[in-house]
Amino acid sequence: MSHIRIHPDWHIHDREITPECSYFKRREFLKQMGILGAGLAGITKQVGLHGAEGNPSLQPSMPDGFPFKRHASYSPSWKLTEQQVAESYNNFYEFSTNKSRVRYLTGAFSITPWSVQVGGLVEKPLTFTVEEAYKRFQMEERVYRFRCVEAWSMVIPWTGFPLAALLKLVQPKPEARYVKFTTFNRPDQAPGMRLNSYPWPYVEGLTIEEAEHDLSFIATGMYGKPLPKQNGAPVRLVVPWKYGYKSIKSIDRIEFTAQQPKTFWESLSPVEYPFESNVNPNVPHPRWSQATERVVDTGLRRRTQLFNGYADQVARLY
Ligand code: MTE
Repeated sequence: MSHIRIHPDWHIHDREITPECSYFKRREFLKQMGILGAGLAGITKQVGLHGAEGNPSLQPSMPDGFPFKRHASYSPSWKLTEQQVAESYNNFYEFSTNKSRVRYLTGAFSITPWSVQVGGLVEKPLTFTVEEAYKRFQMEERVYRFRCVEAWSMVIPWTGFPLAALLKLVQPKPEARYVKFTTFNRPDQAPGMRLNSYPWPYVEGLTIEEAEHDLSFIATGMYGKPLPKQNGAPVRLVVPWKYGYKSIKSIDRIEFTAQQPKTFWESLSPVEYPFESNVNPNVPHPRWSQATERVVDTGLRRRTQLFNGYADQVARLY
């Protein structure tokens, strides 16, 4: 469980985070994106996309309740990453390996209606629509740090509910040891999926203890509104002490299993992207250091923190 402290040791110093009112420095940002080129994409063939770019597509109407109350225990006063940066610098390989193009390629991706099937080794399997999630679960806003394996970081206000609340509803059986999450599989709506360079659909997983942890969060929104498609609409996972690729987007299936699921990135390169993937400055990625991270919108470098700064809460799991 989380320990509430007035000045936790993972507190980010003001000068290291984005000024709330700063506006988007587009040229600097584009320069940074160029520098970052390699990253995750470096391990496989670059997916070349030649589709025409369109406008970022319309989002569904705003459900009642937004913005939900920011939870006082989860860093409510941290300054946030510039919203426009968080919504335009995306890893979502189903659409593109080019971070700045993802948002232009989601036009055909349909997110209404959407339901999530929850099953496998549980007493009470269920399927819920996103609209039902707003009624069934106690929605809240939490500010979390977000650290990609590519060594960049953001601070995001997520809207959603603890994954533990879902576990409570479905009641995992004693033999359930893992939770497997699967993204939609619709090559007709997602251009990156039409190229067979990757083992679609995207799969991620947690141990049952990780899934039960209070920090594991199912997000349906960010910055006080529903998730944009490029950020994983309509429902995604957020696991802030692990590298960002564990935070799987646009989930359509959650399954409780006895065997450890094979994840998308693990099947591409188990040495570079192992199942556990906790943020750790002392364990370099085979191709780059993890000792520091680049704060995406300011370009400042800061030291990487063990478990992304959440050691007090999660170290007991390992
Ligand atoms: N989920 C799916 N389905 N497909 C993806 O390509 N990329 C992951 C993760 N979830 C990814 C995904 C990676 S590598 C990161 S860093 C984060 O999403 C990026 O989330 P963001 O675009 O909201 O910042």
